[in-house]
Amino acid sequence: VKSGLLKGRKVVVTSGGTIERIDPVRYITNDSSGKMGFAIAKAAREMGAEVYLIHGHTDAAPPAGIASEAVQSADDMYQAVLKHWQDCDLVVKAAAVADYRPAKTASSKMKKKGDTMTLELVKTVDILEQLGKTKAHQFLIGFAAETHDVEAYAKDKLVRKNCDLIVANDVTAEGAGFGTDTNIVQVFDAKGLVEQMPVMSKEEIARRLLSIAAERMNGAGGR
Ligand code: PMT
Repeated sequence: VKSGLLKGRKVVVTSGGTIERIDPVRYITNDSSGKMGFAIAKAAREMGAEVYLIHGHTDAAPPAGIASEAVQSADDMYQAVLKHWQDCDLVVKAAAVADYRPAKTASSKMKKKGDTMTLELVKTVDILEQLGKTKAHQFLIGFAAETHDVEAYAKDKLVRKNCDLIVANDVTAEGAGFGTDTNIVQVFDAKGLVEQMPVMSKEEIARRLLSIAAERMNGAGGR
């Protein structure tokens, strides 16, 4: 990987899982450890970019020396991304954002009542879809975490969310997905498969992915 490929570029990376509060002591989240997004943030910096990392709940601390911001909910993450959206060149959305949140967040701890309880959930903002709708000069990379029909769902997300690239992740495969140090992905653009990446470290996936993006950004219409 050439070290200066992203020199002068502003890159925003989202990582980790969002936290959607039920009450002051309970929340809905997911298994994202933040490792994939952290690896992307580090690789972008190695390639010369100015990196801003926005992360939800993660297992480890974010990489040192990278400007970062911790957020909780999908809505918080959206607001944080929006602050950088106009003047950034590349956004990589590796975060696992909740699709639904509790309709109400109780202000005090909810008390145990009957034998069952129902929690009403409402849709969260789809950050990637909103970015896709307002995209101008920015290069947009989405992820698609799937357990089946990986390629079809990933391609659907690429088109629906207007991404330049989508990284399809079969999270049921051994050595891939949530929490692991390695991943297995397929990168697609609107024309089809760009690169198939067999099991490798999240760092190596990050470097390869950003190289593809940088070549495209620096190519037609690039600086
Ligand atoms: O963090 P790790 O433990 O290293 O795990 C890495 C990972 C499995 C979390 C990562 O590789 C991955 O696949 N991230 C995307 C997880 C996800 O939420 O996928 P999705 O298919 O539900 O969402 C598709 C895309 O839309 C994602 O880029 C997501 O960030 C985005 N999205 C989804 C919902 C929403 N409300 N807003 C969004 O922006």
